[in-house]
Amino acid sequence: MGLFSNDNKEMTFNEAMEARRSVYSLKETLSISDNELEELIAHAIKHVPSAFNSQSTRIVLLLNDNKDKFWENAKGILKEAMGEDRDFEPTRQKLDNFKHSYGTILFYEDQDVVSGLQEQMPSYYDNFAIWSNQTNAMHQYAIWTALATKGIGASLQHYNPIVDEATANDFDIPKSWKLVAQMPFGDVREPAGQKEFNPIEDRFFVRK
Ligand SMILES: Cc1cc2nc3c(=O)[nH]c(=O)nc-3n(C[C@H](O)[C@H](O)[C@H](O)COP(=O)(O)O)c2cc1C
Repeated sequence: MGLFSNDNKEMTFNEAMEARRSVYSLKETLSISDNELEELIAHAIKHVPSAFNSQSTRIVLLLNDNKDKFWENAKGILKEAMGEDRDFEPTRQKLDNFKHSYGTILFYEDQDVVSGLQEQMPSYYDNFAIWSNQTNAMHQYAIWTALATKGIGASLQHYNPIVDEATANDFDIPKSWKLVAQMPFGDVREPAGQKEFNPIEDRFFVRK
């Protein structure tokens, strides 16, 4: 499903939810302009909710050489971490596949905001870290789904925390930002395959 559903109308929210999948095989192109992409992400940042309206999420959009640098760093770091004894080839292929994309979105949470709230409202101390992660996940979902409405594929990756330091150095990331997830995206080379669905009745309960 691309930008429009069959009858040429914009996707409904439900159609967009279905269109969002983990797409691993991407192109190095994008069907929309960088400006439109930035607007799509900015719109999500503005409208996605956060606990106590804390707005703790920070997003960094890596394009061109910066996207390449991120995945090259990840390869170097993982190769070293795996050592000589283990076969690095499958990991290299996986990371090169993420590099073969249009861009990568980095999702951060500003820990200064979280600790500020913990100080202000100590009775919720432990909850603020949880809510911060939940807020971040809402941004991930909103952007992933918004990209899907444009026919753009993406997946969700977690190479944090091992890439955090190199990423912070290379992209001028403030010390207080914690990396939560990475999202490679681009035009779809191969769509996602079939997905198994557990019975809804095992997962959704109504008490009238
Ligand atoms: C919280 C969360 C973490 C995930 N982490 C990863 C990950 O590290 N690597 C990955 O390839 N996919 C990751 N995924 C993608 C899931 O495997 C995927 O969403 C799920 O299998 C359903 O497939 P779909 O996205 O095509 O609907 C993650 C998804 C969620 C919601």
